[in-house]
Amino acid sequence: MTNGLDGIVAAETRLSDVDGERGRLILAGFDLERLAGHRSFEAAATLFLGGEEAELRAALGRGRVRAFTRVAQIPDVPDAMDALRGATAQLPEETTPAELVAAVGVFAAAWARRRAGLAPVSPDAHAGHAADLLRALRGAPAPAADVAAFETYLVSVIDHGMNASTFAARVVASTGSDLVSAVTAAIGALKGPLHGGAPGPVLDMLDAIGDAGGAEAWLRAELAAGRRIMGMGHRVYRVRDPRAAVLEQAIEKLAVTPRLALARAVEKTAERLLAERHPGRALRANVEFYTSVLLDAVGVPRSLFAAIFASARTVGWCAHVDEQRRTGRLIRPMSRYVGAVPA
Ligand code: COA
Repeated sequence: MTNGLDGIVAAETRLSDVDGERGRLILAGFDLERLAGHRSFEAAATLFLGGEEAELRAALGRGRVRAFTRVAQIPDVPDAMDALRGATAQLPEETTPAELVAAVGVFAAAWARRRAGLAPVSPDAHAGHAADLLRALRGAPAPAADVAAFETYLVSVIDHGMNASTFAARVVASTGSDLVSAVTAAIGALKGPLHGGAPGPVLDMLDAIGDAGGAEAWLRAELAAGRRIMGMGHRVYRVRDPRAAVLEQAIEKLAVTPRLALARAVEKTAERLLAERHPGRALRANVEFYTSVLLDAVGVPRSLFAAIFASARTVGWCAHVDEQRRTGRLIRPMSRYVGAVPA
């Protein structure tokens, strides 16, 4: 009996494929490396949501403007994912996929601005989605290199097989419920540190380690205390997560050399210590490891990392909801009762 559904195929999908043995990620028929860093967020999202790229770009722009009229409804709570869950849940049932993708990004940026005591920034309906989100966060247009790195990140995480939040969305969709409910459930699943909540703690770890010389002692102490090293290990990948390499290359183009050097040294040390501890299990860097460095470098506050992840993954969630609906089949597994049986 497996208690994490490891290796269980829960759906057939045309959206993405994670080959954990070879470290290959196919996104809507393209290798990750051909999309991330080469296509805009709109172009990649069109592959998942269908239609024409120009139409989606316009719909995202309109969606950001419409979502901006709702920013007062974002709960004023200290956790970004709680805020996102609350604000998303209030969207009307007829919200379209493009409107949802737009809204999650706008809500994330507006929440961060408000927490920093700053006014939210009005969207520019004609801008690219990545550039406009980054502008909404920073309060001024970001340099092209930052936008490019940010867009590479958004495309890298747009979808990823039957991950926990996507499964959550598909389970909700399979009941015949609406898209907003499915995405709200997915946001709840993504919040957990074993799924999308790791990059903030990865950055905390890099800060705590400070310089490469201190990595081994710090990591050993964490492991001895029974804690997991954030950004390392994956349920499916038995090699290094291919998204880690794509993000690492994107970071190389930004002026963050010391932080990148530290991250690389910590990754190498963590890999070695985890191999000592779990010789039979390849525990390598996952996407979250370099996400932390990239998002920090382009000006995303660490409290917002998971919410920005959610804003990109909403594309995948919406596409999976559509795919699931087409099957028309309720997802309803079994449990094995091991409790007391009345006499
Ligand atoms: N640090 C320390 N130990 C780890 C570890 C990590 N990052 N990841 C896995 N392990 C340990 C597990 O505790 C387990 O030990 P045990 O056999 O003594 O119980 C062993 O390695 C095998 O774990 P595995 O089955 O590969 O993990 P999983 O599939 O249940 O979990 C993750 C996968 C991602 C949840 C796990 O690797 C993890 O918690 N990573 C840190 C959080 C993170 O980066 N999340 C983002 C994922 S994209």
